[in-house]
Amino acid sequence: MTWRATVLTLFPEMFPGPLGISLAGKALTTRLWALDIHDIRSSATDRHRSVDDTPAGGGPGMVLRADVLAKAIDSVETSPDRPRLLMSPRGRPLTQSWVMELAAGPGPLIVCGRFEGVDQRVIEARGLEEVSIGDYVLSGGEIAAMALIDACVRLLPGVMGKAESGEDESFSHGLLEYPQYTRPQDFEGRPIPDVLLSGDHAKVAGWRRSASEALTEARRPDLWAARNRQNPPKSKTDG
Ligand code: ADE
Repeated sequence: MTWRATVLTLFPEMFPGPLGISLAGKALTTRLWALDIHDIRSSATDRHRSVDDTPAGGGPGMVLRADVLAKAIDSVETSPDRPRLLMSPRGRPLTQSWVMELAAGPGPLIVCGRFEGVDQRVIEARGLEEVSIGDYVLSGGEIAAMALIDACVRLLPGVMGKAESGEDESFSHGLLEYPQYTRPQDFEGRPIPDVLLSGDHAKVAGWRRSASEALTEARRPDLWAARNRQNPPKSKTDG
């Protein structure tokens, strides 16, 4: 079965957008994955095709209606084993390991939130899991959905060449990726580190590992601490 992303949005014209070019776009054209876009507004029931209303209890903004979104979800043909996600800044943070899980499955159904939010009852009634792509607020879930889909698609079999395969990259070992260099040998007086030109593969690997560790410790104390919890550094008294 082809990995499939099914997206429910009020702005279908935003898709495929960047997912239609480069790596993901080529893979979409060659049917290594599939993208279904559904317009939530098609499920509006009233004359004005309204999809949102003012929040109960007052306050600014508009809330996506439970009945309209439920109808949109129910109108999509989908198997029950597919994850049902709602892009939202209050969701569970997306990580590379969650991306790997999603990429290994049949592919998610993704609801893009808009306005001040989505009626809580449809989140519960349709079992939507909220996903955040970071601690900042986008104007809607579409760009977040694209980020999630892109991260999954590049992991699908056949999408990345062996050479670019994701095995060595940031987060796959809980570390940030080491710095990369290419020609010219000298750029504005900055040379490529000698060890990388030494041809000694073990030395290169050692340098890269140290650089990854130093970067992770400096920039991502959270990742560094998690890694050291899983894999405590050997102390001198350890034997
Ligand atoms: N919608 C708005 N902001 C978002 C975020 N940070 N992550 C996921 N969906 C969002």
